[in-house]
Amino acid sequence: MSSLVRPSFIKEDVSLQGFNSFRFDAKARYFAIISELSALSDSLRWANAQALSITMLGEGSNLLLTGDIQGLVLINQLKGISLSEQSEPELTVSAGENWHQLVSYCVESGLSGIENLALIPGSAGAAPVQNIGAYGVEVKDVLSQVQVMDRRDASLHWIAASECGFAYRDSLFKRDWAERYFITAIRLTLSREFKAKISYGGLSKRLPESPSLKQVFELVCQVRSEKLPDPSKIGNAGSFFKNPIVNEASYQSILADYPDVVAFSVGDSWKLAAGWLIDKAGWKGHRQDGVGVYDKQALCLVNHGANTALALLVLEQGLKQDILQKFGVLLEREPVQLGDLPSI
Ligand code: EPU
Repeated sequence: MSSLVRPSFIKEDVSLQGFNSFRFDAKARYFAIISELSALSDSLRWANAQALSITMLGEGSNLLLTGDIQGLVLINQLKGISLSEQSEPELTVSAGENWHQLVSYCVESGLSGIENLALIPGSAGAAPVQNIGAYGVEVKDVLSQVQVMDRRDASLHWIAASECGFAYRDSLFKRDWAERYFITAIRLTLSREFKAKISYGGLSKRLPESPSLKQVFELVCQVRSEKLPDPSKIGNAGSFFKNPIVNEASYQSILADYPDVVAFSVGDSWKLAAGWLIDKAGWKGHRQDGVGVYDKQALCLVNHGANTALALLVLEQGLKQDILQKFGVLLEREPVQLGDLPSI
């Protein structure tokens, strides 16, 4: 196929409202759902020949869509899971698989390693981008390799997890590699010998002494459903802010004013619970212009019915200013921002 002719599966001016979990309405200039690698390489060649920017989305669950996207938007729906059992069980998972369904499949198959990451919204291919984490486990702990398509020539490569620059909610896929690779599959090394990791977030208090894999999975599902908004019912992108890391002096000055501050020591610094800061500042359950702060978890901003991200950006600005004034801490956004920016 000539790379100058637009493949027929690429549509024009498509609303992305159903493709971001905040459910903000904005359009993609060009749009395609990708379920085959060949469709991905054809799209890439066409867009490169037109010098169009390309944005790959999974389930749009860690995304703040602030306006139209001018280039080509691809929705990754590459499917397939394969298990190989040599010395350790290894799963190869196509990037468009749903993350929670993958976790459920592992638990049913007796494979442990990602049970603490149950009910995290999104696709398997998005998991490495922000190194998803919950209850003391991060995907980097079990990830061995990531398969990518190089955007320059559509070639496929496996990259070792150790090369991906993983850190708290961070990886090279978010930074240096954002314009270079699409994630097409991930490979996880799991275990048939279950060792519960339940010291974090009060999980152990709610479990018997030697819990089973299924019990841990079910408890994580329960705890998350109690605290976090279900994106199929209320628009949100999970934690809207990262937990900020501050130095000893800032921590001590906050502690002097707020002896109940929730903080965890990390090396020489302190990680503060952003949810606690926002809650303490009185924002929990706050609503304005169709958006708000979730009433059960102040770390989540939610969409009660706004059509665009404008009201949310205004809320974010007010909230950040207030937290800065009260605690001297600048909150940093967690979801990825995409699209034209409105002026606020
Ligand atoms: N807190 C409050 N009020 C609130 C929310 C939290 O006082 O409204 C306090 C809690 O009582 C607790 C502390 O803040 O003492 C920490 O809160 P919590 O354990 O609920 O979660 P977190 O540390 O704020 C992180 C992740 C979540 C992950 C949970 C569980 C970040 C930004 N968020 O939240 O990840 O599920 O731990 O491991 O690291 C996500 O990334 O989208 C996400 C939901």
